[in-house]
Amino acid sequence: MPDRHWFRKRLHDPFLKKAHREDFRSRAAYKLQEVVEKYKLLQWHSKVLDLGCAPGSWCQMARRFLGPKGLLIGVDLLPVEAIEGATLVQGDITDSALQAQITRLCPGGFDVILSDMAPNTTGIHHADTQRSAELVGLVLDLCARWLKPGGAVLAKVFEGSEYPDLRRRAKTLFRFAKTVTPEASLARSREVYLLGQGYQGPTASRPPTSCGG
Ligand SMILES: C[S@@+](CC[C@H](N)C(=O)[O-])C[C@H]1O[C@@H](n2cnc3c(N)ncnc32)[C@H](O)[C@@H]1O
Repeated sequence: MPDRHWFRKRLHDPFLKKAHREDFRSRAAYKLQEVVEKYKLLQWHSKVLDLGCAPGSWCQMARRFLGPKGLLIGVDLLPVEAIEGATLVQGDITDSALQAQITRLCPGGFDVILSDMAPNTTGIHHADTQRSAELVGLVLDLCARWLKPGGAVLAKVFEGSEYPDLRRRAKTLFRFAKTVTPEASLARSREVYLLGQGYQGPTASRPPTSCGG
């Protein structure tokens, strides 16, 4: 349960104020903006899949970086209010019928897969980090199906004992794999983002050329 100090900090949170001012649905938009600008993650023509997109601020921010030939598909368990230039799909990413629907929507594959998915937290540290790691593991599995060679992934993970294995796996799949913590991530949160760029395909065996963390 957040305490008074937490509420006071939220009241003065510059990212929250900025999100209200700039009409973003959540302050999370600025986490994506920072990573996109620093790592040149999105291009004018990119085809982007945004997993766990509700309430929609990553879609809103991603759309700013895409031109008319770009494509943006957002997926969430929850309904999301329409966003111009984005196709929104409601469902569970672990559901194979939903996965097939995404494949039909973008048969040529994606340049970038974003995942800000977070499981419902239980407050039990190990259970929460494990469920988060399972979601990121699934995202890495789905790269084989959806991510174009050379493509990129940015996935949120609650850092726990499972994280080193996930990062090791990302380093075998991508030419560059790194842990990033955007400035807008709350100090008390355990979240980090796993960034992989230069997808080498599911059978990649080249040693990684960069490490992060
Ligand atoms: C932190 S929120 C995402 C915020 C979003 N990036 C934004 O900027 O508005 C995490 C979302 O992940 C979604 N989620 C969790 N598990 C999911 C799953 N299995 N399939 C689809 N969405 C999922 C939740 O419903 C929740 O809306």
